[in-house]
Amino acid sequence: MRIILTTVAATLAVLVLGAGQAVAEARLDPMQALAGRPAGANPLDPMTAIRAKADAGEARAGNEEFGGLPDGAGAEETYYQCVACHSTEIIKQQRVTDHRWDELWRWMVEAQGMVEPEPETKALILAYLKANFSSER
Ligand code: HEC
Repeated sequence: MRIILTTVAATLAVLVLGAGQAVAEARLDPMQALAGRPAGANPLDPMTAIRAKADAGEARAGNEEFGGLPDGAGAEETYYQCVACHSTEIIKQQRVTDHRWDELWRWMVEAQGMVEPEPETKALILAYLKANFSSER
C-alpha cells in the first residue's frame, strides 16, 4: 500500500510539473502578434499569432550586423550614426515622405543634439533612408 501511494504521488508530481513547463513554453507574446499581423487578417482568428510570427521573421530579415537594416549603400553609415541614441527599430518601422526624413534629420540635430557627419555621409544616409523607409516608393 505504501509503495502504491508513493508511486501515485510521484506520478502526480511529474504530471503537474510537466504541464506547467509546457504552458510556459507555449506562451506567445500578444503584442508581437499584433505588430506582424498582415493587413486584412481576422483579429479573432486564434491562429493569427502563430502565422504572424512566421510572416514577421521573413519581412524583417535585414543585415544582422547592422541592427536588421536592409543591405545597401549607406546601411553601415546609418547604423553607426543612429544607434548612438536608439535602436534601429524606430527607423525600420517608418514609412514617411522624403521631405519628412529631411525634417527628422534636422530635428535629430537641433533638438536631440545629434552630431552632423561630413556632408557626403549625411547625403548617403538620407538617400539610404529615403530608398528603404519612404512612403513614396
Ligand atoms: C543624439 C541622439 C540621437 C541620434 C544620434 C539619433 N536620434 Fe533619432 N531620436 C532621438 C530621440 C531622443 C528620439 C525620440 C525618441 C522617443 O520618442 O522616445 C528619436 C526619434 C527618432 C525617430 C522617431 C520620430 C517620430 O516621429 O517619433 C526616428 C524616425 C529617428 N529618431 C530616426 C533617426 C535616424 C534615422 C537617426 C540617424 C540618422 C537618428 N534618429 C539618430 C535621438 C537621436
